Amino acid sequence: MRILGIETSCDETGVAIYDDQQGLLSHQLYSQIKLHADYGGVVPELASRDHVKKTLPLIREALKEAGLTKDDIDGVAYTAGPGLVGALLVGATIGRSLAFAWDVPAVPVHHMEGHLLAPMLEDNPPPFPFIALLVSGGHTMIVEVKNIGDYTILGESIDDAAGEAFDKTAKLMGLDYPGGPLLSRLAEKGTPGRFKFPRPMTDRPGLDMSFSGLKTFAANTISANDDSEQTRADIAHAFQEAVCATLVIKCKRALQQTGLKRVVIAGGVSANKQLRIELETLANKIGGDVYYPRTEFCTDNGAMIAYAGMQRLKNGDTAPLSVKAMPRWPIDQLTPVKEEARS
Ligand code: KG4
Ligand code: ZN
Repeated sequence: MRILGIETSCDETGVAIYDDQQGLLSHQLYSQIKLHADYGGVVPELASRDHVKKTLPLIREALKEAGLTKDDIDGVAYTAGPGLVGALLVGATIGRSLAFAWDVPAVPVHHMEGHLLAPMLEDNPPPFPFIALLVSGGHTMIVEVKNIGDYTILGESIDDAAGEAFDKTAKLMGLDYPGGPLLSRLAEKGTPGRFKFPRPMTDRPGLDMSFSGLKTFAANTISANDDSEQTRADIAHAFQEAVCATLVIKCKRALQQTGLKRVVIAGGVSANKQLRIELETLANKIGGDVYYPRTEFCTDNGAMIAYAGMQRLKNGDTAPLSVKAMPRWPIDQLTPVKEEARS
């Protein structure tokens, strides 16, 4: 069985084709970063309009890359939420309409379930159960994953997402959007220990997190110091260290609380090298393992939507003949995929 996956929830148009026997057959990605760079963040209306232009050409490219035609496709999956409502509606309308025209099922996919399952596309996929640290531009949460669709949110950010904190702090430092990867690169040149940022909400029990205070702390540190390249790198280093340490402390607690030893990190911030290193150190200490997607599948992409879509298609989670986008859609509202539907 083959499924086409479409991702348009934010500022990336992603399209991919996944085959349940052969794996990923093709994937195409178009990033709108340049379009939004002048504004320092995603402009929702511009994002929607660009998805309108890019989605169909990318679908043609994905079919061509896989050497397939529409007749080889058994279902069309699209991100139905959470995300920017206009951007979601573009993918949902195109996906639902194509499925109707091709006479195959349409499959609405939860964007964060896509991220969570992205490591399943790798050679060494994580066995269930595990803890998932989902860290993106819009969400930060720790989820206990018993199986596909069987999710319990153990903790989440009560304010900014980790990626959002990276981007806002990067902006304060004069870096372009999205600043997460740029800040991380700058941090590599930083002097460890020159600045010390707090580790928010780690001095009390629980797995919820807060990152908006770090941005304020960064703003105060920036204004109290010179703006030399070294000082900027030192501040970036201290900020990144605080975010990573906080996430690692919370993951350690989640592992202790659940008795699990496997951690999956996914979402844009899972591309962060420092975070990967620190989680691997934690896992080594407890005899556990860390899993993450290849770097290009950490950030938004069509492959993860095609993969998650295939699992949902087999489970019969198809859409009626209407278009629905869900800008807010808690991941723990998803239904578990039934034993017989698992491949
Ligand atoms: O998952 P994603 O592509 O989009 C959402 O679903 O939000 O995540 C994008 C976020 C941005 O905030 C970006 O700055 C951050 O991931 N990001 C990083 C890195 N690469 C991407 N943050 C820190 N370090 C990185 N290397
Ligand atoms: Zn995402």
